[in-house]
Amino acid sequence: MNEERGKFSKLGFILAAAGSAVGLGNLWRFPFEVGDNGGGLFVLIYIIAIAAIAIPVLMAEVSLGRYTGKNPVGAILTIRPGSPWKWVGYLGVASGFMILSFYSVVAGQTVGYFCKAVSGGFRDMTPETAEAMYTGFTGHSVAQVALLLLFILLTVFVVSRGVAGGIERCSKILMPVLLGILVLLLVRSLTLEGASLGVAFYLKPDWSALTPKLVIAAMGQAFFSMSLGMGTMITYGSYVSKKDSIPGSSGWIALFDTFIAILAGFIIFPAIFSQGMDPAQGSGIMFNVLPVLFAKMPGGMVFGALFFLLLSIAALTSTISILEVPVAYFIDEKGWKRKYAAYIIGGMAFLIGVPSALSNGGVAFFSNLPGIHMGFADLWNKVWGSYSLSIGAFFIALFVGYVWKTSNALNEIRTGTRRFPLGGLWAFSVRFMAPVLILAILVISFL
Ligand code: TRP
Repeated sequence: MNEERGKFSKLGFILAAAGSAVGLGNLWRFPFEVGDNGGGLFVLIYIIAIAAIAIPVLMAEVSLGRYTGKNPVGAILTIRPGSPWKWVGYLGVASGFMILSFYSVVAGQTVGYFCKAVSGGFRDMTPETAEAMYTGFTGHSVAQVALLLLFILLTVFVVSRGVAGGIERCSKILMPVLLGILVLLLVRSLTLEGASLGVAFYLKPDWSALTPKLVIAAMGQAFFSMSLGMGTMITYGSYVSKKDSIPGSSGWIALFDTFIAILAGFIIFPAIFSQGMDPAQGSGIMFNVLPVLFAKMPGGMVFGALFFLLLSIAALTSTISILEVPVAYFIDEKGWKRKYAAYIIGGMAFLIGVPSALSNGGVAFFSNLPGIHMGFADLWNKVWGSYSLSIGAFFIALFVGYVWKTSNALNEIRTGTRRFPLGGLWAFSVRFMAPVLILAILVISFL
């Protein structure tokens, strides 16, 4: 075994994979996608996508990774040497660079908000002052680039120390504490005057809002939140012990990840509606509403600081898993040293991230092209965060379903599990349901 790789301990995989899954996707991206897509219907389709597509694809990725012990490109080449399927792996490695670049911008902003909270910046916040604070903050180019750099350096530092030493240790303890603060926020938000309007928005599906755009956003969010479609879970799967249960771990990861996202919505929307704010305000929604909520809470400054600190750490356990994909590729396939790979790739992700860091400050890159009315970060979020992951998941499902074959995958899935009665259902999803649904939605949304 290549000593630059490594192995998770028994509980380490669930912790590391849950650490990868839970992050800004749950607390930042999920609420803003729900808000932009009209509320309850998005939530419903999201949950269906998790159960019908994301969980089966998660098990496909982990089993492929554990069976081959490789990064996405290497895993595919192990099963089918020299085949063009390897391009699915390359797409994953490329997506890793791109997602890391804009994700780290937002992660840097959570660090910035931690500093604001510590210095008492949330005191007496109103919806107006909170929005002004966010606009001012994202418009500050130097701060944005510096925070991006800081966050990438943190990620590189952990990844360069390796899976067991760095990644695993970072994923422990934190989750229960984060959950505790979320529950406090939940109570505060739900007891605000007018909170029920937000709950209704969040839970009542408005079927007239059903569009291909909504469905692709919900499906993309399911992949994003569970870290699927670019081989993160193939790569993490390659560090999983044969004694661990893949169905068991996958179930826990999905449950935990979905629970936190749903919880986040119950915090954001009651607060949004009680404050008369707009639910469809895009990617700033979390930063605009939470300071107001903390200002209305006893001990809100302390909780605010703690919240943004924990969210930064949750984001870090996710960026680690994103960077790990290209790093594992260069270690396995190109023989690079782990440290070297981490620094080089981190440096490139930083350079790619700079336009995203500047885009909220009014530096318009694509916004004057016809048909595109959004900044760089938002555009990247759509292209790499929704489309590329859906395409990746489509091909991974096909590869496992038809090239590696579900019978071989099920052998791997059943290793370390006492019994897995849902094998047939899983195979059906990987071979038919997931590819057909993903393809249909992609095609319809392109037409
Ligand atoms: N799932 C993480 C979140 O919700 C982000 C993430 C980590 C990710 N690894 C990924 C997203 C791989 C897409 C692909 O914050």
